[in-house]
Amino acid sequence: MYRVAESEELADRIFLQWIQAPHVARNARAGQFLIVRIDDHGERVPLTISAVDGDLVRIVFMAVGKTTRQLSTLRRGDSVRDVVGPLGRPSDIRRYGTVAVVGGGAGIASTPIIARAAAEAGNHVIGIIGARNAGLLILEEEMRGICDELHVATDDGSRGRHGFAADVLKDVMARQKIDCAWVIGPAIMMKVTSEATRRAGVRTFVSLNPIMVDGTGMCGSCRVTVGGLTRFACVDGPEFDAHLVNFDLLMQRQRTYPEEERLSLERYQEHTCRCQEGDHRG
Ligand SMILES: Cc1cc2nc3c(=O)[nH]c(=O)nc-3n(C[C@H](O)[C@H](O)[C@H](O)COP(=O)(O)OP(=O)(O)OC[C@H]3O[C@@H](n4cnc5c(N)ncnc54)[C@H](O)[C@@H]3O)c2cc1C
Ligand code: FES
Repeated sequence: MYRVAESEELADRIFLQWIQAPHVARNARAGQFLIVRIDDHGERVPLTISAVDGDLVRIVFMAVGKTTRQLSTLRRGDSVRDVVGPLGRPSDIRRYGTVAVVGGGAGIASTPIIARAAAEAGNHVIGIIGARNAGLLILEEEMRGICDELHVATDDGSRGRHGFAADVLKDVMARQKIDCAWVIGPAIMMKVTSEATRRAGVRTFVSLNPIMVDGTGMCGSCRVTVGGLTRFACVDGPEFDAHLVNFDLLMQRQRTYPEEERLSLERYQEHTCRCQEGDHRG
């Protein structure tokens, strides 16, 4: 069992948890992920390792469906059944020169650990974070503390620049030379943003989030197409050269099980309601 050491709601439906998982924490590097299983009957969900502190690993996740909602109910002192990791290849951190680390929505979760590693490797780090509105913007202060410059954008203009992170990145690239970029967020955001870096000739990494099951290259559920070749995101990624990724196929495959996901959430919610009613009756 793995103890939850800290649990906090950072923004609407976005949660941060520190979990005691020494074997993961000791070996984790930027860009890697872990797989959590809450209990014996639970589904396995992949989540980025957002930070490490001693024996603790930090996850930051959006409660979108059954498992992430159930995870969000855990409090300090609760436990999860399994934490497997670190999984995937670490980010290709080198001394590139000036790097941009761009995060959108819950994808911002992945940015501090990459920005910190890039800064430690001697790069000038420009952080760009974007969300739908100010209430959904996360980890801003932490990113400000790590990056040499931080730019903020919101779709509705409620904080920072009115627009998308991609717009900010285009402005930054127009003003100065960027040697390498990381772009992490929803697939559509990664697709649009990496079109801008392709035009500017900037080497770009994206972290892909296809459906994963085993996380060890055995089941094939996480297959993606990169440069016309089939890759398994769990062992060959999750980071890939953005300009070679077939994002349309990724988005199509992410929507494979909408009915199963809906039913699973409905059953979970019915079960939670029944438990709460039981509690009220004493
Ligand atoms: C390498 C990797 C790192 C990730 N890191 C983060 C993170 O740091 N924070 C975060 O909020 N989310 C992250 N995700 C996405 C997260 O795994 C899904 O949101 C989660 O699995 C949804 O499960 P659910 O039961 O709550 O929702 P469901 O209702 O089951 O699914 C909602 C949507 O989540 C996706 N999804 C469902 N099951 C899986 C699965 N087994 N693997 C991957 N995606 C799935 C599908 O697109 C689906 O449509 C990451 C995914 C990958 C592959
Ligand atoms: S999750 Fe099974 S092969 Fe990648």
